[in-house]
Amino acid sequence: MPDKGSFNILRIDASARRDHSITRQLGDTVIQRLLREHPQALVTLRDIAEPVGFIDADWVQASLTDPETRDAQQRDALGTSDHLVRELDAADVIVLTTPVYNFSVPASLKAWIDMVCRARLSFRYTEHGPAGLLRDRPVYVVMASGGMAFGSTADFASGYLCHIFAFIGIHDVRMVQAERTGSDADSSTRAALDMLAHWLPGRAIPATA
Ligand SMILES: Cc1cc2nc3c(=O)[nH]c(=O)nc-3n(C[C@H](O)[C@H](O)[C@H](O)COP(=O)(O)O)c2cc1C
Repeated sequence: MPDKGSFNILRIDASARRDHSITRQLGDTVIQRLLREHPQALVTLRDIAEPVGFIDADWVQASLTDPETRDAQQRDALGTSDHLVRELDAADVIVLTTPVYNFSVPASLKAWIDMVCRARLSFRYTEHGPAGLLRDRPVYVVMASGGMAFGSTADFASGYLCHIFAFIGIHDVRMVQAERTGSDADSSTRAALDMLAHWLPGRAIPATA
């Protein structure tokens, strides 16, 4: 778990591909630019191509049980989830990289979402509806699609991710999207870098004499 006194960047990678992944490469650029602004920052990597596991009946029962009365087995059932919520909460900036799979997010990312959306820890219900419990902070959401246009009616990924982050209290979502990588990966990557430049400008090219 990162040190509370340091500037903490949490990077979450969801592409099943470790090599030749456009989202992971764009994620590298986001991290480089963040480190330029925060050279002392600690970067924690959560690679969810390595599955975090699924919630199950024991998990649900334990999460519904008052924390004061949970037994050892129930505390154990929530161990990974507790850890992932703490990891998220410790971050000053989050970088999430994810492809679109079947019009939505990879199942591995949905499994992570199920682990971090925790009643009483990351959200609670009030008389006015749900309220996020995590403090707001920037989250760079780096996405790639093979053929789908982001914002189209077939895009069940980007709106969903914005909704989930808002649900737990994180509203400062900064989209970096490489659209239609299947047709022209280079130009879609360039378009994503243009979106990134809005949030984190690249280093200016020095003028030649
Ligand atoms: C299992 C799978 C499902 C996919 N489903 C979609 C889809 O529904 N829509 C789409 O536009 N692209 C889809 N793609 C294409 C990926 O989103 C695209 O190749 C993206 O660049 C992958 O990200 P990566 O390069 O970081 O691995 C799919 C790819 C895979 C492997």
